[in-house]
Amino acid sequence: MSTLSEEVRRRRTFAIISHPDAGKTTLTEKLLLYGGAVHLAGSVKARRAQRHATSDWMKMEQERGISVTSSVLQFDYRGFRVNLLDTPGHQDFSEDTYRTLVAADSAVMLLDNRKGVEEQTRKLFNVCKLRRTPVFTVVNKCDRPGEDPFQLLDDVEADLGVACYPVTWPVLDGDRFVGVYDRRRDLVLRFRRGEDHGQSRVETDALALDDPALEDTIGAATLERLREEVELLDAAGAPYDEAAVRAGTLSPTFFASALTNFGVEPFFRTFLDLAPAPVPRETTEGEVSPEHDAFSGFVFKIQANLDPKHRDRIAFLRVCSGRFEAGADVSNLRSGKPLRLAQPQSFLARDRQAVEEAWPGDVVGIHDRGSLRIGDTLTDGDIGEYRDIPRFSPEHFARVRIGDPLRRKHLDTGLRQLSEEGAAQVFYAESIAGPAPIVGAVGPLQFDVLLHRLEHEYGVSATLERLPYVAARWVTGPTAEIERVAGGYDRVQVTDSRDRPLILFQSTWSLQKTEANEAEVLGFHSVAP
Ligand code: G4P
Repeated sequence: MSTLSEEVRRRRTFAIISHPDAGKTTLTEKLLLYGGAVHLAGSVKARRAQRHATSDWMKMEQERGISVTSSVLQFDYRGFRVNLLDTPGHQDFSEDTYRTLVAADSAVMLLDNRKGVEEQTRKLFNVCKLRRTPVFTVVNKCDRPGEDPFQLLDDVEADLGVACYPVTWPVLDGDRFVGVYDRRRDLVLRFRRGEDHGQSRVETDALALDDPALEDTIGAATLERLREEVELLDAAGAPYDEAAVRAGTLSPTFFASALTNFGVEPFFRTFLDLAPAPVPRETTEGEVSPEHDAFSGFVFKIQANLDPKHRDRIAFLRVCSGRFEAGADVSNLRSGKPLRLAQPQSFLARDRQAVEEAWPGDVVGIHDRGSLRIGDTLTDGDIGEYRDIPRFSPEHFARVRIGDPLRRKHLDTGLRQLSEEGAAQVFYAESIAGPAPIVGAVGPLQFDVLLHRLEHEYGVSATLERLPYVAARWVTGPTAEIERVAGGYDRVQVTDSRDRPLILFQSTWSLQKTEANEAEVLGFHSVAP
């Protein structure tokens, strides 16, 4: 087997999707602990401290070193090379959060055992569903009593329209989470309580479900309950189906406590076995296999340095095929221009590190002076362009105002470029004075960044007037019908930078009602069609 196919096979590139407080930071720390990358856990913690400490994005920027380096965590575990892509959440929830999922080969959906599916989880899950990304579910915080596991999974299935296949099942002694049953290995893993509050790995005793010694280990009542529940699962649950997992319609599910580490290791090892290695990706000229000889990849995120003294930017490139080599000459298929991959960085540790080579599934950071855009395909071979990274519908809107009308040209240039870079989306509404720009964002922090960059990079001092809209849909259908539907009192019609029409709604209720009533005449799209 060639080095390329070996490297591809051992790559696992994924993101954790969750609602704030479900335990993503804690789980990330524990995965790093199991991966032996303990020194990294500090940077994850620092990020959490920073999050709790401030909602002020300027301060977040001062901590930028941390957020850049923890954007991708790479480590080895049981022979796998793991790339854990950090999805910004909390106050910095933005379109980047969605775009990161495009660079992942699978996702881990982390749920709080008392809360199940929450709003942010649902949004992120829907992006995975749209892209058919395999999703693995982890029910967290099982160290404290939560919703009944059967009920919880029923709720997930009903809410998200995905079937769950429990790979591990909680062993409960009354309310106490004492172990998990691993259905694939037919092993009951009884946790031995550590003394150090989850600082180190958890030891377990492992016994088969029909092992006579099990009763002594977990107690007769606990065993009886477990046996009954496992019988129910076998009889009533969906069977394991690898094709369905790959298609994103069946979610292998695990129970764990990231805080105490209970169940984390059984989850992680099985996840790595079942999760896909990089698979072929669609281009304008057909699929490209990761084992294709030519190097190729696409840019999914651009991080601008907001310090005006350093105008360099970092483009995050997901390697899709072949071998990435530092210093290699490649071309940018959008612009047709050559590009040297100088000073690429990986994000292995607290400090960015120079990277010499990378393989499909890896993410490298490339310095950019403004020539790259989100979605750009870079390659040294003869392949098509990777499919566009879609624009996701924003939920916050504002009208842009400038004090000095003579700066309007600069404003338009700035808005166009910043929108191409993915900082925010720009729409135009009809007004007496001509098309008036409206900016849209997935998270409100994007607005602060936008204003700052308009001022420092384009010399435009602008203000934003927040608008009452909360949802947007691209609409397709006859123009007269679009205008009729957009004519309602609680909505407005705008166009995006490519002149595609959208309707902005003041409430999700109104949006849903309109979608239901008008489905026969118009198409409604939450992602640009
Ligand atoms: P997030 O990144 O998804 O927002 O969640 P984070 O890991 O920061 O966890 C949110 C809170 O939930 C933290 O408590 C954390 O300790 C707790 N937590 C995470 N995993 C578990 C678990 O398995 N069991 C229990 N019982 N709690 C868990 P906090 O009090 O907000 O912060 P801290 O003071 O503990 O750091």
